[in-house]
Amino acid sequence: MKKIIFGVIGILTITLIIYMVLLNYNEEYQFKKKMRKSGYNDEEIITVMEMIPKKDYDIILKREYNDSLIDIISSDDFKENYLDMYLDYYEKNSDEDIQNIITIVNSGYDLDDYPASSLLAKLVNEKYYIYKNTARYLDYGNSHKETPRKIVGLVNANVDLGFYNKVLASDLNDNNLILVNKFYYLDKTYEPDDLIILSGQYNGGVNNRLRKEAAEAFMKMASAALLDNVYIKNISAYRSYDYQVNLYDKYVRRDGKEKADIYSARPGFSEHQTGLCLDINSADDSFKDTKEAKWLQDNAYKYGFILRFPKGKEDITGYKYEPWHYRYVGTDAARIIYDNDLTLEEYYAYYVENKKS
Ligand code: DAL
Ligand code: ZN
Repeated sequence: MKKIIFGVIGILTITLIIYMVLLNYNEEYQFKKKMRKSGYNDEEIITVMEMIPKKDYDIILKREYNDSLIDIISSDDFKENYLDMYLDYYEKNSDEDIQNIITIVNSGYDLDDYPASSLLAKLVNEKYYIYKNTARYLDYGNSHKETPRKIVGLVNANVDLGFYNKVLASDLNDNNLILVNKFYYLDKTYEPDDLIILSGQYNGGVNNRLRKEAAEAFMKMASAALLDNVYIKNISAYRSYDYQVNLYDKYVRRDGKEKADIYSARPGFSEHQTGLCLDINSADDSFKDTKEAKWLQDNAYKYGFILRFPKGKEDITGYKYEPWHYRYVGTDAARIIYDNDLTLEEYYAYYVENKKS
């Protein structure tokens, strides 16, 4: 009896194996036949069969002959799961370099609305690329000769919209990361409610108040600097709206509006009104060569401060290099900004604003 059962099972198994082999053979045979009909030669068909799993055959068969199929699937960056998207995107951009097509699709964004280009392929690889800004990056990049990194930085900072052109109220909920610049302003009446006076030895100015956390961090930083024989003191910290009115007017009378705008903020647009920043030691260009300026550049981030208007970033911040102006953002943000050579504008766009939407 047992023998009969084993015999039947054996026959069934063999039949099943034969059936599977034939089915497989037939599937491959059918695929080859259809591929030939679509216009692929034997060499191309063999490559496809080597590279593409059977479950994806339909993705190729549902389309007409693609003269770049082999190039696409042979690329080092080819990802099997994206086959359908490569082919879709290629159909809309058949003149474009295959590598650019692959890079753009690999970025994982839905970029169907944008034509493939080498600029787009570079932009999507930028660390601070923000998908919703894509159209603006492309517009800006196509009309300005800038590196992809700069295009992303400038557009993220809204520079393409024009300074003082489309302004918005700063978000007070951002706390230490509040952004006040040529796009974000503070109300006339805004005054932080936790300003404290910087103690005597670290102060050399009349505007001698900072918000509590920033003041404590500054005094800690100044004490640490002292141990390195570096003497830093405040010369201008919190400034009220009214104070900035007089200051800006004075500069405009002296140099005219266009020049004044490069080094002085209009009332409401100065981050001195946040109580989170201060000018240190001397507001003169020669300060940059002092050992104090160098110490601050190398160490301020450890205490939560950043150089707010760095050299080489004037087009992003909208202000000339100010080696004396430091802004408190807290140690976490300061480290990221320092390590990645960012401005607060670039940091804010990517790490604060982008996370809200
Ligand atoms: N000097 C800086 C930009 C200010 O006026 O706030
Ligand atoms: Zn300043």
